[in-house]
Amino acid sequence: MIDGKKVLFSGMQATGNLTLGNYLGALKNWLTLSDEYECFYSVVDLHSITVRQEPAELRKRARNLLTLYIAAGLDPKKNCIYYQSHVSGHAQLSWILNCFTYMGELNRMTQFKDKAAKHADNINAGLFTYPVLMAADILLFQADVVPVGKDQLQHLEITRDIAQRFNAIYGDVFTIPEPYVGKTGAKIMSLQDPLKKMSKSDENPNASILLMDDEDTIIRKFKRAVTDSEACICYRDEQPGIKNLLDIYCTCTNKSTEEAVKEFQGKGYGEFKLAVGEAVVSVLKPIQEEFNRLSKDKAYIDGIIKENADKAGYFANKTLRKVEKKVGFPERIR
Ligand code: TYM
Repeated sequence: MIDGKKVLFSGMQATGNLTLGNYLGALKNWLTLSDEYECFYSVVDLHSITVRQEPAELRKRARNLLTLYIAAGLDPKKNCIYYQSHVSGHAQLSWILNCFTYMGELNRMTQFKDKAAKHADNINAGLFTYPVLMAADILLFQADVVPVGKDQLQHLEITRDIAQRFNAIYGDVFTIPEPYVGKTGAKIMSLQDPLKKMSKSDENPNASILLMDDEDTIIRKFKRAVTDSEACICYRDEQPGIKNLLDIYCTCTNKSTEEAVKEFQGKGYGEFKLAVGEAVVSVLKPIQEEFNRLSKDKAYIDGIIKENADKAGYFANKTLRKVEKKVGFPERIR
């Protein structure tokens, strides 16, 4: 609790270009929850270097991501928006928690298995202990709730396990966080292979809608989206392409699946795909315009970076000092 409010923590990696999946699965929920909670939204650049990055590119993407959080509607006066690398407590707590996490647990993480297969030439220890750093992010702020897409639920589970294990030894140190997953949009699928998650790292450019795609590109990608030959706009597992498009449409328009299915009853796939594309454009366009405006205001963004790093550092240190004391590190002499 901070000032009587429950705490929310979430983050995104500045790796690759953000997709519609990141927006609908996570960022959109951040916006709806932000009034209710004391919120910390991090650009998790420490996580990014678990795969090789070009330094100048990473720096640029991280800044763009931070700007995008604000452009999407998060008020930086009310929400703590900051770079993970600016708060050393993340790495420090992560080390401590490494000593309370088992190799066997980490071995079971599906994201590790996927990433290790993708980056077979660089299966580094950071990639393996990635979920521990994520646990440290969340526990450092004593977060009650963590809004994420479905792909991160396993990492939330291990975070809870680590916290409970630590608390069982040392008393009530950490708040046990709950995941928050939206009713729709929690797993947006590829437009080219609807059995696969829409991902920043997909090599097929038609598979993902990027948050910065212009109107024509968005409409073109939706027109090319893979569907089926059922000729029915129905929400069912047997039609994964249509189901995904309905999910996207509903999340963008805040309509229920039933409403959307009724709206498109008897209509053709062409018309439906165009409507989905237009719904996405109307969500992304204002964000893009605000992003372009904010990006030019260097002093404003710099001010937020400084102020919020200090604020995040303050709360992070509170938890860290408590944890250090519990595990038996000597007190600092001032
Ligand atoms: P990342 O950067 O891969 O994704 C950011 C958020 O977007 C969600 N997401 C999706 N949601 C729906 N459909 C999709 N296709 C889709 N793709 C991505 C993710 O679930 C995530 O919520 N490890 C995290 C970042 C992280 C973090 C944290 C998150 C680090 N520390 C602490 C929460 C709390 C990651 O790589 O997300």
